[in-house]
Amino acid sequence: MAEPIRVVVTGAAGQIAYSLLYSIAKGDVFGKDQPIILVLLDIPPMLPVLDGVVMELQDCALPLLREVIPTDKVEVGFKDIDAAILVGSMPRKEGMERKDLLKANVAIFKTQGAALDKYAKKTVKVLVVGNPANTNCLIASKSAPSIPKENFSCLTRLDHNRASSQVAMRCGVSSDKVKNVIIWGNHSSTQYPDVHHAKVNVHGTETPAYDAVKDETWLRGDFISTVQLRGAAVIKARKLSSAMSAAKAICDHMRDIWFGTKEGEFISMGVYATGNSYGIPEDLIYSFPVEIKNKTWKMVDGLPINDFSRAKMDATAAELVEERDTALDFLSHIFCHLVEDEGKCIYGYTQKVVQL
Ligand SMILES: NC(=O)c1ccc[n+]([C@@H]2O[C@H](COP(=O)([O-])OP(=O)(O)OC[C@H]3O[C@@H](n4cnc5c(N)ncnc54)[C@H](O)[C@@H]3O)[C@@H](O)[C@H]2O)c1
Repeated sequence: MAEPIRVVVTGAAGQIAYSLLYSIAKGDVFGKDQPIILVLLDIPPMLPVLDGVVMELQDCALPLLREVIPTDKVEVGFKDIDAAILVGSMPRKEGMERKDLLKANVAIFKTQGAALDKYAKKTVKVLVVGNPANTNCLIASKSAPSIPKENFSCLTRLDHNRASSQVAMRCGVSSDKVKNVIIWGNHSSTQYPDVHHAKVNVHGTETPAYDAVKDETWLRGDFISTVQLRGAAVIKARKLSSAMSAAKAICDHMRDIWFGTKEGEFISMGVYATGNSYGIPEDLIYSFPVEIKNKTWKMVDGLPINDFSRAKMDATAAELVEERDTALDFLSHIFCHLVEDEGKCIYGYTQKVVQL
């Protein structure tokens, strides 16, 4: 059997992690013959909760799970890590401005990026889930200059899965019959779910999604807004944000990084826009269609883009540029590394207090 790999999940006491850890530990992501050491990182007040998660993982009696290490220290959490799934982040509180949330989270991801740089393997694959995921990912990568930029990506697979599923339900087929939907841009309500290049397998025949759905008004209207606003709809119904579906999407994303995408299929993920053929500004983490082979993603270039798509791709890019500039401006003034959260220290920061 292979040597165990070390996988860290941050925010490990949270609700996404609770749905995610079992799938990872039983081999759904890194393979059924790949032993795993799971490192669970959260903030100090959550350590008692982590103890409960550790007990449950032990009680699952999973043969691939060699060790579980709960910690509140980045130097332990990121040591010799092969895969890092960064879920932990500060949630939006009542009355908190979007900018304040961005500031709190870029501070967290700057610290974690720097810790990855210092302690993780240089081959580490980093998946950022905590919101605002694209910009957090950009900051983490910029803070880890010794790790290749290509090793960083952010989660838009949940949006991708939502889009595939909406089309599948509309056509009365199972979701595996839909391929090559694209999520462009930000994991926010400006994202652009695009099915111009998608195919639906209808009774064994690969059919362009527009022909299979036969409802352009829906595809250009309610379909897009349903996917864009799905997160909010889940929160409204459940009083909690998406967790089961987010965990499933994390598994899909990381498994594709590890084992590659299927021949002739592409998936969506947030990656560096550097060198893209779609006129998206560089130095952004923007969701593109990608194919993956040998643990390396390659953007799917040169797809024809019509005016409808162009406007939507540019709008979500503009939002990301603004987020990036706010984040970088904040970081350029940062003189401190401590964030107070209702009097409790958010882990990882060691000096002064930022007034948010
Ligand atoms: N990209 C996506 O598609 C997607 C989908 C769903 C949710 N999300 C985001 O994922 C994040 C987590 O969601 P959740 O429902 O699990 O939230 P949650 O509040 O249940 O859990 C978050 C956990 O992160 C921990 N945490 C906070 N700061 C930390 C730090 N500095 N280091 C380590 N851990 C820290 C918290 O203590 C908590 O245990 C949120 O930002 C959410 O918006 C993203």
